[in-house]
Amino acid sequence: SSTVDQTPKRVILAAPRGYCAGVDRAVVTVERALETYGAPVYVRKQIVHNKHVVRTLEERGAIFVDELDSVPTGARVVFSAHGVSPAVHDEAAVRELKTIDATCPLVTKVHREAQRFAAKDVQILLIGHAGHEEVEGTMGQAPERTTLVQRPEDVDALDLDGDASMAWISQTTLSVDETMETVDRLREKYPMLMDPPSDDICYATQNRQQAVKQIAPRCDLVIVVGSVNSSNSVRLVEVALEAGAKASYLVDYNTEIKPEWLDGVSTVGVTSGASVPEELVEGVLEFLLERGYPVAEEERLTEENLTFSLPPELRRDLKASA
Ligand code: F3S
Repeated sequence: SSTVDQTPKRVILAAPRGYCAGVDRAVVTVERALETYGAPVYVRKQIVHNKHVVRTLEERGAIFVDELDSVPTGARVVFSAHGVSPAVHDEAAVRELKTIDATCPLVTKVHREAQRFAAKDVQILLIGHAGHEEVEGTMGQAPERTTLVQRPEDVDALDLDGDASMAWISQTTLSVDETMETVDRLREKYPMLMDPPSDDICYATQNRQQAVKQIAPRCDLVIVVGSVNSSNSVRLVEVALEAGAKASYLVDYNTEIKPEWLDGVSTVGVTSGASVPEELVEGVLEFLLERGYPVAEEERLTEENLTFSLPPELRRDLKASA
């Protein structure tokens, strides 16, 4: 391969990147709620895992809380895109909170799968990361029947009754390849393991991983725009490195790019997680252009046309106030 100095400096942009349908819906839900009901609107957890989005909504009057006990009795609260367990809905009812559920419909789909398996006495193996809000919500659908499996290596230590009926489901934002490895190991150990009725890793996660995989082998550096607590964004860094990028870093803002990352670099790949507004990517591209890296091409894997309608409880009030 050629030496870096002979290759012109350039940027390859991956597409699709940035906002997915579930994030767009969740952010618009908080914006419309602020317009319709006025500030403050409480939001349980970060509405989506992006620092900039949360800051911007805070400036407009959203109040982000970790748990419902920080919401005044009778106030209005939005549940985040990552979903909640039935216990949280129950607590909201007891506290007489007015809830707006911005759970992504593709997360709700996984909740329903868990409920259906549980109703049939099926043991559930949930592949996902401990402590992530989505995992807490999904575990909460059938806590006594669900076992969390975080990574392929965790399968060996599992001690479940091999004769019981079992199914796997997953978090929506995992690495596709690593999840398949976990499933293979599970199936080796528990051959009767059932699959979920459809893919739990969502279309947006799959497309962003596939798109970065395509450009990574040609990149000396891949910059992923996204926050450290954003599961799908962190996966993009891992996927880029596995697919052959020489280096890859996650940044919230262009100010976090270290000049030395560009030492000897000719081709920079850029992408962003599903919770990232495009203006942050534009900031990164400006930074790169100023240092002699123009965008050479956008490499698009596929078009995305999915949109989700706003939560019905909000739509009702929007209609009434129109
Ligand atoms: Fe939903 Fe996937 Fe986005 S689960 S919130 S569409 S990353």
